[in-house]
Amino acid sequence: MKFVVAANWKMFKNPSDTQKYFATFRTYNIPDSIQTLFFVPAVNAATAALSLEKSPISWGPQNIYPAANGAFTGETSPEVMKELGARYVLVGHSERRQLFHESDEVTRQKMDAAQQFDLNPVLCIGETLAERKQGQTNAVLERQLRAALDDFSVKNQLCIAYEPVWAIGTGQVATPDQVAAAHTFVRQMLNQFLPKQEIPILYGGSVKPENASELAKTAEVGGFLVGGASLQPESFYAIIKASLQ
Ligand code: PGA
Repeated sequence: MKFVVAANWKMFKNPSDTQKYFATFRTYNIPDSIQTLFFVPAVNAATAALSLEKSPISWGPQNIYPAANGAFTGETSPEVMKELGARYVLVGHSERRQLFHESDEVTRQKMDAAQQFDLNPVLCIGETLAERKQGQTNAVLERQLRAALDDFSVKNQLCIAYEPVWAIGTGQVATPDQVAAAHTFVRQMLNQFLPKQEIPILYGGSVKPENASELAKTAEVGGFLVGGASLQPESFYAIIKASLQ
């Protein structure tokens, strides 16, 4: 199983920045043991597709609506993303859950839509600081996993991204012990829901070139989901290199 290093650009980058970024990134030598993915803003999907033509680097949107088309003003069609060449989709990012009030049920609908339109989901889960302080971390992870994965069958590739909400964009990275505990619990849950499947568990939340190496060696860490430090090709590549065991 390759170590997955995924970039989440959030609502950053114009089409011209996207082109420049990939022109630089494509000159880098990506080790065979690493799989890189980019979650780009949907409005830049066509530019990403053109910039990554004939490259093994995959991309996808950060969100989809769970229908091919319809009267859903302002939403992103998974069918259109697929036609443009997306292979992956981010589902249930905490910013979707918190800022856009996406429930566990809606997240599940998006998992099913990803499946239907042949996009490999990277499912994000994670607790808030208040939930952690109340000792609710495992209960939250279990609830989010159960809603998204009960009776779900993996078509191609499924990744889980454990992203403690308090570590996202804050510079406050989870400690290796906290990451190991959460990932081990997620692995136990996955063994129940989807036994015998190869499902990498990515860590996300303030991953930087300086902390990537230690986190990559932590139990059950099968990759990273990187926000801020993925916005410059140099720092994202530094994380890729630091991930090599
Ligand atoms: P961050 O974001 O790396 O900037 O903390 C991670 C994410 O939101 O996926």
